[in-house]
Amino acid sequence: MASLLQLADTYQQYHNASGIKGFPPELYTPVEYIMALGGKRARPVLCLAACDLFDGNIQQALPLAYALELFHNFTLVHDDIMDQAPLRRGHHTVHKQFGMPRAILSGDVMMIYVYEYFKHLPDKAFREVINVFNQSAIQVCEGQQLDMNFEAREQVAQHEYLQMITYKTAVLLGASLQIGGIVAGASETDQKALYKVGVDTGIAFQIQDDILDSFGDEASFGKSIGGDIRQNKKTYLLVRALELATGEDKAQLEYYLHAPDVDPEQKVATVKQIYKQLQVTVKAEEVRQQYHKSAVEALNSIEVGSTKLEPLLEYINSLFERKV
Ligand code: IPE
Ligand code: IPE
Ligand code: MG
Ligand code: MG
Ligand code: MG
Repeated sequence: MASLLQLADTYQQYHNASGIKGFPPELYTPVEYIMALGGKRARPVLCLAACDLFDGNIQQALPLAYALELFHNFTLVHDDIMDQAPLRRGHHTVHKQFGMPRAILSGDVMMIYVYEYFKHLPDKAFREVINVFNQSAIQVCEGQQLDMNFEAREQVAQHEYLQMITYKTAVLLGASLQIGGIVAGASETDQKALYKVGVDTGIAFQIQDDILDSFGDEASFGKSIGGDIRQNKKTYLLVRALELATGEDKAQLEYYLHAPDVDPEQKVATVKQIYKQLQVTVKAEEVRQQYHKSAVEALNSIEVGSTKLEPLLEYINSLFERKV
């Protein structure tokens, strides 16, 4: 059994040695740029850890882990266009650095290359993996559209928010774990449990992302703080604030959500102040805890013994604590 650090290191070495190069360079330079910027590598590590949990062949799982990271990075390139984000992993976003048309097309080619990496699998496993991956990848697009639809909505119910983040973020973490399990020959019951571990972890992960987008440290988070507020994103914080606000707070929130020419800095400062007053981050923490607990329970339902579960448990806990 490999330690988590070993798995992360094995992945990073494979990542550094891989890469999509070709002609014309204008297409491939942005791909190299985003893939070299770092990031937590959460999806590949989850995939390898799940494979290791069932004593699977890590060498066989590496191209899949890379494919998952490639897909994730493709979603980031296009997400930053949709969200008009200037910063990613502490650097210019791809469309800022290379322009919009190249960011769109480089994202497209990354998405196609995902399947080139999946092709390393034997036929039967390929089919199973593609089924799980495609279902999640379609849901990511659906979640991203809901995320944009909600920008223009007055109110979003908590269950609608949870569906949106399940799709845009959580299912890919679920698929990453399940795919690692498939390669290692895990039973259907264990695959289901792995998927649930990932989805519940992913929901807690996205709520934390929402908190950090308003209250994180820009230098370590690597993204522009307040971006969600500027874009009227219906984050967990805003969904709850819109439910709880009354009087002056409500009037201010509504003013900043609708007024076309507000000063973005003032908008971010005022909305953050309202979040603090209404203690919405405390509520976000409670929900985050619930999903984390549920992820840990699902993990513990996998009958491989607690020593074997330890690395994955440790990793899920570290994602829960994340500040970046
Ligand atoms: C960012 O994902 C997009 C979300 C789903 C919140 P990560 O937080 O995993 O980004 P990197 O890969 O570590 O940069
Ligand atoms: C991103 O959600 C989900 C996907 C990239 C599919 P966010 O828009 O919150 O992610 P960040 O904060 O830009 O990383
Ligand atoms: Mg974004
Ligand atoms: Mg987004
Ligand atoms: Mg975010």
